[in-house]
Amino acid sequence: MSDFADRLIRWQRKHGRHDLPWQNTTDPYRVWLSEIMLQQTQVATVVPYYARFLDRFPRLADLAAAPVDEVMALWSGLGYYARARNLHACAQAVMANHGGQFPQRPEELSALPGIGRSTANAIAVFCFGAQLPILDGNVKRVLARCLGIDGFPGTAAVESRLWRHAESLLPAKHLPAYIQGQMDLGATICTRGRPRCDACPLAEICVARRDGRVAELPTPRQTRPLPERMATLLVLRHNDRVLLEQRPPTGIWGGLLSLPELPEGADPARHAAEHLGTRITAVSPAPTFVHIFTHFRLHISPLLCEAEPLPHSAEAGLRWVDRAALAATGLPAPVRRILAAPD
Ligand code: ADE
Repeated sequence: MSDFADRLIRWQRKHGRHDLPWQNTTDPYRVWLSEIMLQQTQVATVVPYYARFLDRFPRLADLAAAPVDEVMALWSGLGYYARARNLHACAQAVMANHGGQFPQRPEELSALPGIGRSTANAIAVFCFGAQLPILDGNVKRVLARCLGIDGFPGTAAVESRLWRHAESLLPAKHLPAYIQGQMDLGATICTRGRPRCDACPLAEICVARRDGRVAELPTPRQTRPLPERMATLLVLRHNDRVLLEQRPPTGIWGGLLSLPELPEGADPARHAAEHLGTRITAVSPAPTFVHIFTHFRLHISPLLCEAEPLPHSAEAGLRWVDRAALAATGLPAPVRRILAAPD
């Protein structure tokens, strides 16, 4: 296994990615922002969000000073919204506790909101010249296959074995190319489905390939079916406007603008009149579809309603938004899908 690192570094130089927007910088603000966005999200999805964030918040201080709602709105569509809340909290913590400069030590980095051990190490390698391994989802897959390690990598026991291996494989030199190589290999060659072993620099030393176990490793989580939940979302329309409601700060889509949710068993007309300051004049259901969250499957039933704002009603958190302005409004992806559907 001694040439694991050499093979990866050589491959990264020749075939890896060198021009991603967060490469070729050692600015911890930029590296940190990219690493948070890239957690569980692919490069192609992240690129436009990253550009918009940096445009709006060129420096850490700008992000820390912004209202959290604005951060959430810019994040909308990227998913896993706890990342956005932690991002904002982290920016404020660095301003308040570290004089606006990211700390260099990985233990201090990983004490900040939203920064785990692997992200802390990635920042320390890319920005501060540290000699540390990373272990994100991609690297877990590469190591589980190449070393032939059984067991679901999400369990503490398997994860700590993987950390020990990651530490023992670390090269003495060229850490940034090595770390970037692991990320690039996991994203482009050693992918979850249909890995391209013919193009892999590790093929000759890969245990899973030798033993014909590439499709079995890493061992998947013991599957329990996800719980099913239902939600009815009201699409209250008046002329060219639609009624949006700010979600409560916790729970799904916390703090984001969304379509008002009809509480289970409630009557739409009554709920609209009593809580949404609106009189419904016509109702038609649209097809139900499923949106998958980490912990449950949500069956979303949109209810299309013609409606009129009631005079003198001013409910907190409600906003009639022009259809033309929806594109520029931060909304959860399934809500955007409902509003984009033709009538
Ligand atoms: N995934 C996580 N970090 C990454 C990076 N720096 N480049 C590409 N993909 C990544």
